[in-house]
Amino acid sequence: MTKDGLVGDVEDSLNLILKGRLKLLADKVPKCNVAADIGTDHAYLPIYLIQQGVCKKAIASDVRIGPVEAANNNITLYTLNDKIETRLGSGLDTISENEADSIIIAGMGGTLISRILEENAQKASKASALILQPMNEMHVVRKWLYDNKFDIYDEEIVAEGQKLYFVLAAKYDGGIKGYTDLQLNIGEKLIKKKDPLLLQYCELKVRQIDNVLTQLENLEGKQELQSHYSELKKDYMDLIIDLKDK
Ligand SMILES: C[S@@+](CC[C@H](N)C(=O)[O-])C[C@H]1O[C@@H](n2cnc3c(N)ncnc32)[C@H](O)[C@@H]1O
Repeated sequence: MTKDGLVGDVEDSLNLILKGRLKLLADKVPKCNVAADIGTDHAYLPIYLIQQGVCKKAIASDVRIGPVEAANNNITLYTLNDKIETRLGSGLDTISENEADSIIIAGMGGTLISRILEENAQKASKASALILQPMNEMHVVRKWLYDNKFDIYDEEIVAEGQKLYFVLAAKYDGGIKGYTDLQLNIGEKLIKKKDPLLLQYCELKVRQIDNVLTQLENLEGKQELQSHYSELKKDYMDLIIDLKDK
């Protein structure tokens, strides 16, 4: 094993093997002409997508020179220089409209992902698939997508080590979306398909909310926060009962 989420022995085989979070991300990328991996770091994802024939060309883009150099080294190692192009710059600034049919933004905070989308919403809307993996604040990403008329057509949770990661697949469809707090916090596709890891996630959230409620006990002017977290806890508890039922 060379890095978290990656099993790859370059000496033995030039085929990269992904697992966990990166594998789920790759699985969600539809067959396409060009995939752009924004915030690529090491370029493992574009390398895997090309090797597996998921896309014909890929763009590995990052805002920092270090990750772009690491990406260039790996692309050369796997002799994919004719198929993967690296770009240096922020977010979707490095690609032009309609250049990539699949856009992946993974391993960053939800607020940063939303900001990247907001800065180039028109480009994002032209992609056939946005594959997004926020490390936190998933609700911020879901809200941005709904408010900007994107359909979240798929969502899945993957466990890696002790952590749970969420992968969202979205596409602009121009429809006005209504949503509840619960759909922002959990994701309606996860609820609908009763994702196998959703129960574990809800139980974790209840434990976290209980901690917050305990801390709030000694705080002045806590009523509003207390009722917010109590309502949220009830939503999670109801869902837990529902998930255990089926
Ligand atoms: C934790 S790494 C994730 C790497 C890879 N996407 C993954 O999921 O394993 C985050 C990467 O995003 C890059 N990044 C941060 N902000 C960015 C931005 N505005 N535009 C492009 N890349 C960005 C960082 O330089 C870093 O290489």
